[in-house]
Amino acid sequence: SCSRWKPIVEVGPRDGLQNEKEIVPTGVKIQLIDMLSGTGLPVIEATSFVSSKWVPQMADHTDVLRGIHREPHVRYPVLTPNLQGFHDAVAAGATEVAVFGSASETFSKKNINCSIDESMLRFEEVIKAAKERQIPVRGYVSCALGCPYEGHIEPSKVSEVAKRLYEMGCYEISLGDTIGVGTPGSMFKMLQSVMAEVPTNALAVHCHDTYGQALPNILIALQMGVCVVDSAVAGLGGCPYAQGSSGNVSTEDVLYMLHGVGVETGVNLAKVLEAGDFICEALGRQTNSRVARARGRT
Ligand code: HMG
Ligand code: MG
Repeated sequence: SCSRWKPIVEVGPRDGLQNEKEIVPTGVKIQLIDMLSGTGLPVIEATSFVSSKWVPQMADHTDVLRGIHREPHVRYPVLTPNLQGFHDAVAAGATEVAVFGSASETFSKKNINCSIDESMLRFEEVIKAAKERQIPVRGYVSCALGCPYEGHIEPSKVSEVAKRLYEMGCYEISLGDTIGVGTPGSMFKMLQSVMAEVPTNALAVHCHDTYGQALPNILIALQMGVCVVDSAVAGLGGCPYAQGSSGNVSTEDVLYMLHGVGVETGVNLAKVLEAGDFICEALGRQTNSRVARARGRT
């Protein structure tokens, strides 16, 4: 059902690293992105233009964005929570950005220090400024399958926020299971609700793997027609404002599954595994990718 098979948004350099306690050297981040750029991945989320008081790990955003070697066919979006972040991102050379909202009022406060309604006003400003420069804007909806503070989130709340972002001009809405609590059951219900408001070809899923449900959740989303999946090399990641959230689903595991069901991604799994080796060694940690472990990586 998917006509454009550019299915993976690699979020490792951003979502994967933002929660690391020790500051990762800028050169390591740049090398990771450069390695990922050679794998065939079409989109690599590079960094965040957020407050360094809130997320110190992303303080080197400008140096990262200026330091990478951009491949002509790869896009390098960055997160921008407000107009200040947007202007800083553009000054650093960003050509694509993402705003990140939430379906949970409490999470919105904890993560970006404002209510959902306030965040929509900020995003409207970002989207307007982006439109003037013909910069595409992606929109995230966090807590789409549950909130670390509020627990259950109604699918109707997710579809409401997704619809607002889409109508404001986001070209794609990424539905985030921020804390990885969803199951194929809740994913199905949530997507049914969102698909009534937003075209399916404008949707992506962004699964964290806390409960080991990420791959089945992604599979059901694909079966429902979703064509874009967010993932992180080596399954790095977690949100600093979502305690207990584990890594993103690993890019290696998503690729293995997609290739297994006959989806031609154009991504070289062996090269992604090498990028995973590199970042795991640099961080001194084990991979979260089952495929990497099955291929003898530690
Ligand atoms: P605030 O403190 O409310 O901001 O933070 P403010 O507007 O009141 O300004 C206070 C100070 O922050 C000022 O500086 C501003 O200049 C500065 P001061 O005058 O005190 O020196 N400031 C900024 N500095 C740098 N960059 C900016 C910026 N804006 C203001 N863009 C803010 C509001 C949104 C900035 C803050 O809450 C923040 O940075 N939050 C980011 C949190 C974050 O990065 N979370 C992780 C990403 S979301 C995620 O991981 C989920 C996702 O993966 C999807 C999923 O899994 O579901 C996307
Ligand atoms: Mg995330």
